[in-house]
Amino acid sequence: MQNTVERLKPGSISVGDFPKQDPEFQELMLNLINIHVVSELYGADCFEQSILRAPTPEFKMRMARTVMEEYGHHLRFRSLMDELGLDWEEYARRKGHLSTFDTPLESWADQVVFLALVDRAAAHQFRQFVQSPYEPFRKASQETLKEEYGHVGLGMSGVKHLLQEDIGREQVKAAVDKWLLVGLQSFGSDGSKKSEVYRRWGIKQDSNENMRAAYYEQVHSIITQDWGFGLPKNMNELWISDGVDIDRAY
Ligand SMILES: [Fe+2]
Ligand SMILES: [Fe+2]
Repeated sequence: MQNTVERLKPGSISVGDFPKQDPEFQELMLNLINIHVVSELYGADCFEQSILRAPTPEFKMRMARTVMEEYGHHLRFRSLMDELGLDWEEYARRKGHLSTFDTPLESWADQVVFLALVDRAAAHQFRQFVQSPYEPFRKASQETLKEEYGHVGLGMSGVKHLLQEDIGREQVKAAVDKWLLVGLQSFGSDGSKKSEVYRRWGIKQDSNENMRAAYYEQVHSIITQDWGFGLPKNMNELWISDGVDIDRAY
């Protein structure tokens, strides 16, 4: 089967073709779909409290739209299970939400920095998924990516608003310390076996370490230049992979 793998083109596998695919491919795809079914719902529940925490009606409205879209992501990936005739709840019971949501969102500053940094990391993942061979997943990822960019945009405006006052500045600083590490770990471990298999099947193109390095370069420039906080040039001064594949990461 190894050679056929090379020939899988983005979007080349339809719903009808799915059951004919290699069992390993099917399992990887269902694992990723399930990750989103579970985590988009859990994430939306976590975000919901931020609607009332938002400082202005404008931010409340944008936050409410974000929450709505996150529930929409859950429903969108769930429909991929439905069209394969699979019971999403049964799958959902097998796996917990992504470890990104283990850290609690406790304030508005937490929420906007999460959107600016952690949703940004999710967007980096979706940019891989839009190349994936299974068409329904590719399409769902494309639609989701567009909305994730909007969430990152809300995060960036929310941070900018907070940075106008000293107290907000301090809150943002603390939230950066908290969420940057979550963003970095969300890419999974260095040298990941899981990532190798995803790449073999064309579901991902880049290694976890390359994706993380590109992400750090981007957030480093935002945090140091746009927000004006210090950050080491070398990511490893903040975070080092222990090389262990985490079950609740990509
Ligand atoms: Fe989402
Ligand atoms: Fe999002």
